[in-house]
Amino acid sequence: MKKKLTRFDLQKLKGSGEKIVWVTSYDYWTAQFAEQAGMDMILVGDSLGMCVYGYEGTIPVTMDQCIWHSEAVRRGAPSTFVIGDMPFLSYQVNCDEAVRNAGRFFKEARADAIKLEGGRRVCPQIKAIADGGMLVMGHIGLTPQSSGQLGGFKAQGRTIETALELIEDAKAIQKAGAFSLLVEAVPPEVCKIIRDELTIPVYSIGAGINADGQLMIVSDLLGIFQAFTAKFVKKYANLGEETLKALRAYADDVRAGQFPEAQHTYNMVDGELPKLMAVLKK
Ligand code: KIV
Repeated sequence: MKKKLTRFDLQKLKGSGEKIVWVTSYDYWTAQFAEQAGMDMILVGDSLGMCVYGYEGTIPVTMDQCIWHSEAVRRGAPSTFVIGDMPFLSYQVNCDEAVRNAGRFFKEARADAIKLEGGRRVCPQIKAIADGGMLVMGHIGLTPQSSGQLGGFKAQGRTIETALELIEDAKAIQKAGAFSLLVEAVPPEVCKIIRDELTIPVYSIGAGINADGQLMIVSDLLGIFQAFTAKFVKKYANLGEETLKALRAYADDVRAGQFPEAQHTYNMVDGELPKLMAVLKK
């Protein structure tokens, strides 16, 4: 059985040149494949709102949904470092709510860490959760839960002012006690500055190669998510097309009377069929 990474392993790998590879997963089966493929970490992202539930964004996602999906992922990937994602309004109100909700990921889903979105304004929550003995990952740049404030799902840190804001946010998050930081949809040069400034690992999704590791949304990577494709997505498969092909072939077979075939059915126990027929004739 593979050995699950710890925060100390992740810390040691920072700057070693060895990249951490991780994906999102929302269910048992993709978690199994992620573990078999040797992913270092799995994020049970609140992107499940879009990828699993068909919402337009992540705002409607609830704590219960995140817990259920995290439980399923944990069952599928018992030896992988699993991060639960704090959904909208599970930590913004105050530190007490943040600690209680973060704790649910550890108690109910046996997560290894949680992630929450935001910069300096969520540092009190990061500190409170870390002080509660839990591992917290920060998330800055394009933070989907505040996409309304950001004017949509847009790249961040593209001007000197906004880049400087992000750098300050990153430093504050580290100071508050986060064990790592995710940077989303930010120019690679800005991500590099953040990675070089911080002592904790800095991971990228859409922030280029200058990071301690890369995250991809599994539904994007597999070519399943159809609503839109972000600039930073690389599709490594087209399971959407494969799925359509398989479903259409099944429907065609059933309608043509070609499924099921004898090999897909069960035989009665030897000698039982004539007896049944005899009974029915009486
Ligand atoms: O929910 C998620 O999958 C995320 C990524 C977009 C970073 O937070």
